[in-house]
Amino acid sequence: MATNKHLLEIVGLAVNYGHIRAVHQLDLTIQQGEIVALIGANGAGKSTTLLAVSGLLKPSAGTILFEGKDVGRLRPQEIVQHGLIQVPEGRAILTTLTVLENLELGAYSRKNRREAAQDLEVVLDRFPILRERGDLPAGNLSGGEQQMLAIGRALMGRPRLLLLDEPSMGLAPLVVQGIFEILQEINKTGTSILLVEQNARQALRVANRGYVLETGKIVLSDTASNLLENQKVIDAYLGGGKDCCSVD
Ligand SMILES: Nc1ncnc2c1ncn2[C@@H]1O[C@H](COP(=O)(O)OP(=O)(O)O)[C@@H](O)[C@H]1O
Ligand SMILES: [Mg+2]
Repeated sequence: MATNKHLLEIVGLAVNYGHIRAVHQLDLTIQQGEIVALIGANGAGKSTTLLAVSGLLKPSAGTILFEGKDVGRLRPQEIVQHGLIQVPEGRAILTTLTVLENLELGAYSRKNRREAAQDLEVVLDRFPILRERGDLPAGNLSGGEQQMLAIGRALMGRPRLLLLDEPSMGLAPLVVQGIFEILQEINKTGTSILLVEQNARQALRVANRGYVLETGKIVLSDTASNLLENQKVIDAYLGGGKDCCSVD
C-alpha cells in the first residue's frame, strides 16, 4: 500500500506519436482538494499529457498513480470509473442532441440510475441556463454555454479529479472569468482539478500550484502565486500585459 497522500502522481511519463516524443520525463502530483494548472505554449504537450492520464493515449514510459493505484495501462472507461474525468479540448458537445441528452451521456458509466438522476438536478442547479435550455439542441448554445455543458456532462460522472483541456479557448474574457469562477466553486465541493491552459494568467489565478511545460518537459513548478511573480513566467507566458486570452 502506497504511503503517500497524492491523489494523482505521475512519474517519468513519456508519450510518443510514432517516433516523435511529445512528452518526456514528466513528473506531476496533485493533492486531494487542489487546483493544479499545467501551462505552456501551443504544442508543448499539454493535451498529450491529459490524454495519457485519461487513458486515450498509451504512455511509452512512466507510471500514473491515482489514489495509489496504477491506472497507466487501464482502458479509458475503467479510468472514468475511478473518477478521473476529462472535459476535452474543444468541448466535444454533440450539437444535434439536446442539452439534457448531452448531460445524460456523462452518466453512461453509472450503475445507480437514481443517484445519476439526483446528480442531474445538482448540475442543473449549478447551471440554471442548462435547465432553461434543456430541450434545445446543444448546437443552439453559445460557446460559453457549451463549455458549461461540457463541464456539467463531466460532473455527471462524479469526478474525483476533473481534467480540463483549455476551457477558455475561443471565449470572451468575461465568459472565461465566469467559467473559472465555476471551476473554483466545483473545487470547493471537494473535486480536485487539473487545469490545462494557454491562458496562463487566468489559470494561475485560480490554481494552488502550477507546472510549466516546454517542448514536452516540465521546466518549472511552484505555487501559483510564485509563478505569477516569476520573471521567466511573466516574460514567456504572461506577456507583461493585462489579461490575455482570445476573443470571439
Ligand atoms: N496526433 C498526433 N500525431 C503526431 N504528433 C502530434 C499529434 N498530436 C500532437 N502532436 C504533437 O505533439 C506535440 C504536443 O502536442 P499537444 O499535446 O497537442 O500540445 P499542446 O496541447 O500543449 O498544444 C506537438 O509537437 C504536436 O505537434
Ligand atoms: Mg492542447
